[in-house]
Amino acid sequence: MTQDLRIGIIGVGAMGADHAERVARRISGARLVAVSDPDTARAATLAAALDGVRVIGDPLALIGDAEVDAVIIASPGFAHAEQLMACLEHVKPVLCEKPLTMDAESSLRVVEAEHKVGRPLIQVGFMRRFDPEYARLKQLLDSGELGRTLLLHNVHRNKTVPATFRSEMIVRDSLVHEVDVARWLFGDEIVKITVHAPKPTSLVAEGVLDPQFAVFEMASGALADVEVFVNFQVGYEVRCEAVAEKGSATIGLGVDVLTKQAGHWGGAVPDDFRVRFGLAYDIEVQRWVNAAAKGEIDGPTAWDGYAAAAVCTAGVQSLQEGRPVEVEMVSRSEVLG
Ligand SMILES: NC(=O)c1ccc[n+]([C@@H]2O[C@H](COP(=O)([O-])OP(=O)(O)OC[C@H]3O[C@@H](n4cnc5c(N)ncnc54)[C@H](O)[C@@H]3O)[C@@H](O)[C@H]2O)c1
Repeated sequence: MTQDLRIGIIGVGAMGADHAERVARRISGARLVAVSDPDTARAATLAAALDGVRVIGDPLALIGDAEVDAVIIASPGFAHAEQLMACLEHVKPVLCEKPLTMDAESSLRVVEAEHKVGRPLIQVGFMRRFDPEYARLKQLLDSGELGRTLLLHNVHRNKTVPATFRSEMIVRDSLVHEVDVARWLFGDEIVKITVHAPKPTSLVAEGVLDPQFAVFEMASGALADVEVFVNFQVGYEVRCEAVAEKGSATIGLGVDVLTKQAGHWGGAVPDDFRVRFGLAYDIEVQRWVNAAAKGEIDGPTAWDGYAAAAVCTAGVQSLQEGRPVEVEMVSRSEVLG
């Protein structure tokens, strides 16, 4: 009998607690054995609700713990770089929630450190790639049935976010998903980004630029646009329409059950990402566990995390300076040989 992969989770807020539940109850071949969070009461409550889960105060001690085979990092982005470096030092597979790190420079250091280890250990939590609708869209575009893909139109809306979510975070934490989607669907790098800040909603604190409207220019000349609106009030909505030479394809219409009642018809808008992408996270984590057990990864790489960070670094500059900004990236072969 093969042994379960023993997993430790760092950061058990919204995303980490969701992953904890997932690993403990729905993922096969894996067992949740430890959690770590500076909010020790939160970690203790979660551990108490699940069997055989220890609380380890120091996240770096969790990474080094002899009973932890693999790590999920779901701490805030600013903590990722140090925790990723520790995973590499201990040669432990890690599924790191996006963003890989907060900027291009620190992400590049992570890519270089992983390269020195000699095998991929880092998978980045760009879960859209595992969502069945996105996966079918990718398959359709890659099949060539619609000809070349010319444009992508994306919409990314949250019901609300905490007041600490400032304008730059909308780029680094939200827009970063569409950065990965555009790179993945086109199979190409983003070379220039413009982040426009239309008149903000009156429902956010003074100075917060929400919504934002971004335009990505791909190396091939194709374009992608993204509306990100994180205080939309209604619910969580993520849509993507690809326009190609011989047709278009749209995903994320959220058409599930339509009801007719009391003179109205309609359906439900999910409250947050945990509902809309629940299945994508399940598939993502299961495939990561299966791969990690074989010493591999099966999803977005540290390089993908670096590329997204480079685009977002340029995106924050574009937002601040109100102009298009070229994306600065080192060449892949220079770093990875
Ligand atoms: N893939 C997705 O769809 C998705 C969705 C939401 C969040 N995320 C990512 O997940 C991560 C966590 O986001 P969240 O929404 O759960 O945030 P959150 O604020 O709900 O939770 C973060 C948790 O990390 C803890 N924490 C703070 N500093 C820490 C540190 N240095 N080390 C360990 N833990 C620390 C906090 O106490 C908190 O419990 C972020 O990187 C975020 O971008 C991804």
